[in-house]
Amino acid sequence: NFDLKGRHFLSLNEFSGEEINYLIDLSAAFKRQKKQGIPHRICEGKNIALLFEKPSTRTRCAFTVAAIDLGMHPEYLGKNDIQFGKKESVRDTAIVLGRMFDGIQFRGFAHETVKGLAKDAGVPVWNGLTDLYHPTQILADFLTVKEQKGELAGIKFVYVGDGRNNMGNTLLIGGAKVGMDMRICAPKSLWPSDEIVDYAKSVAAETGAVITLTESIEEAMDHADVVYTDVWVSMGEEAAFAERIELLRPYQVNMDMLQTSGNPDIMFLHCLPAFHDLETEVGRAIHEQYGLTEMEVTDEVFRSRHSFVFDEAENRMHTIKAVMAATLTETREWLER
Ligand code: CP
Ligand code: NVA
Repeated sequence: NFDLKGRHFLSLNEFSGEEINYLIDLSAAFKRQKKQGIPHRICEGKNIALLFEKPSTRTRCAFTVAAIDLGMHPEYLGKNDIQFGKKESVRDTAIVLGRMFDGIQFRGFAHETVKGLAKDAGVPVWNGLTDLYHPTQILADFLTVKEQKGELAGIKFVYVGDGRNNMGNTLLIGGAKVGMDMRICAPKSLWPSDEIVDYAKSVAAETGAVITLTESIEEAMDHADVVYTDVWVSMGEEAAFAERIELLRPYQVNMDMLQTSGNPDIMFLHCLPAFHDLETEVGRAIHEQYGLTEMEVTDEVFRSRHSFVFDEAENRMHTIKAVMAATLTETREWLER
């Protein structure tokens, strides 16, 4: 039973592997319809609020375009535009937005905030990233893998880098749900918390997923199908740059690392934005201070035939569309169109 109508989308913990696969298949269907020019304005007349405490390119644009494709009006609410956080509580904001809008996206710091909004809004709330989880991103990542590899179960998926951030946490749980051979490769101090690892292992025991945490690149990369990395310093953690560079320098994704897999067709993924060169404002400051020219991934890997990062970025839109549609209306018949 894939009736997701009325549900929130706060983390993958509340969704089964079947439900996650349903959302990915629905995304692929909407993607096909969009490319063929088949309209799917199945949420016509609804309005959604997009509430952001942190900046965003992909998530904001994906929610905006997907909402309009579905026939909805999206309203962007930046943290400095509204009373939220300064003069008004999470609870009162949730109730007010829920009285006017049919759904609410939240991106921000504390995961408790998105849970608080969900508790009191009375309409579906979607997590567009918190410090703890980034669940819509994982749907786009897995759709991209499925497009290339045809399946998710059994895929040898390596996440290398900051295993304790929102991406490490959510990929580990998502991989467990869909039955992947999921490997987190990081210095031990950056492994996900015991609570998240224990949960992922309990899920894996039911789905047949394999969970490995290792400091060893050789062990993690053995016959890998996919290698994924993320920034070494997430939004809000800027004070940690020096320490992270020290810890994660050996875990940079480069051609040597890809070759360690022994798989000539290994895929590279990254949620973006990426420090594959340091030709940005923040990048130049890091270059000045630490002398680096690349961080978590080399420009060579980023631009190589292994890299599917821009398919992945596009897929944010198709997957976010599926999440909104499935939680706001009936979607089953749209799978086949
Ligand atoms: N991957 C991702 O969430 O990108 P934005 O921060 O640009 O939304
Ligand atoms: N871990 C990153 C992901 C950005 C999409 C961050 O939270 O900044």
